[in-house]
Amino acid sequence: MSSVMDDFFTEKKQPIEAYLKAALAGPVNKLLEAMRYSLEAGGKRLRPVLVMAAYQACLPIGEAPCHDLVLPFAAALEMIHTYSLIHDDLPAMDNDDLRRGKPTSHKVFGEAAAILAGDALLTEAFSIMAQTKFPGHEALLLTVIADIAAASGAFGMAGGQWLDLEAEGKHISAAELENLHRHKTGCLIEVSVTTGAKLAGASGSSLEAMVTYGRSIGLAFQIADDILDVEGGAEAMGKNTGGDARKHKSTYPGLLGLAASKAKAGALKQQAIDALQPFGERGESLRQIAEYIVTRNS
Ligand code: IPE
Ligand code: IPE
Ligand code: MG
Ligand code: MG
Ligand code: MG
Repeated sequence: MSSVMDDFFTEKKQPIEAYLKAALAGPVNKLLEAMRYSLEAGGKRLRPVLVMAAYQACLPIGEAPCHDLVLPFAAALEMIHTYSLIHDDLPAMDNDDLRRGKPTSHKVFGEAAAILAGDALLTEAFSIMAQTKFPGHEALLLTVIADIAAASGAFGMAGGQWLDLEAEGKHISAAELENLHRHKTGCLIEVSVTTGAKLAGASGSSLEAMVTYGRSIGLAFQIADDILDVEGGAEAMGKNTGGDARKHKSTYPGLLGLAASKAKAGALKQQAIDALQPFGERGESLRQIAEYIVTRNS
């Protein structure tokens, strides 16, 4: 990560890290330990940072940000993402041993605890969101929570994960691969952006611009992940690379080659940045995040 982006994420991450730590405070048992192990292992915190950045970009000028409103949603999205990683690494799925620079959950706690830690993180996420107060705006909160449920479930991330497993060892078309990537990864990234935007009151063309931005970086993010699985190092990534080819996964570099995959990621980044045009200066954080997504090495 460039030092500029390092500082950017470090600053934006601080309140999120604190919130996540407090959210899982309580009596220690093995299940909670497993949940904290994965949640506090680090990670880029891209999804919560996107919630905060989209919220700030869309907040009406002069309106003070309400952290008590937006932080629970940011934290919840990181919990859902972390659950998806724990399950993604299980022997029945990608069977990986290293995540966020540490042995995977099932390696440390066993498969049963890893499955339940994922289940419980997902459930806690919805509990945190359901308990958030926004007097007079309850309908908006319900809409956002329903969006996040849709992006996580059978018609979102979980559905995409299934497509990913079904596509192992098969040749699928470019359209099918795009659909797979948009679901397994794009949906949660897009909904992180729209969550921040909607909580700030965005609607109409501003919200549409945020949807375009979120959809574009969501797909670009997974293309970059596929590229890094070929070109990246385990140390920087905190996970073992090269596994996609070994497992005969359907990926962008596998289907299009590295050069065309990079071109596609770059075009999506540009699409995302173009969508931010109406936000002017206020879109700067989101612009930087889009650049980071396609230039990162971790
Ligand atoms: C990894 O996500 C899984 C994908 C969706 C590609 P991240 O690359 O955001 O992982 P962390 O959160 O930084 O560990
Ligand atoms: C995972 O995609 C997407 C998720 C929903 C977790 P990958 O299987 O490529 O993610 P990594 O490379 O293991 O992080
Ligand atoms: Mg996977
Ligand atoms: Mg995986
Ligand atoms: Mg990957």
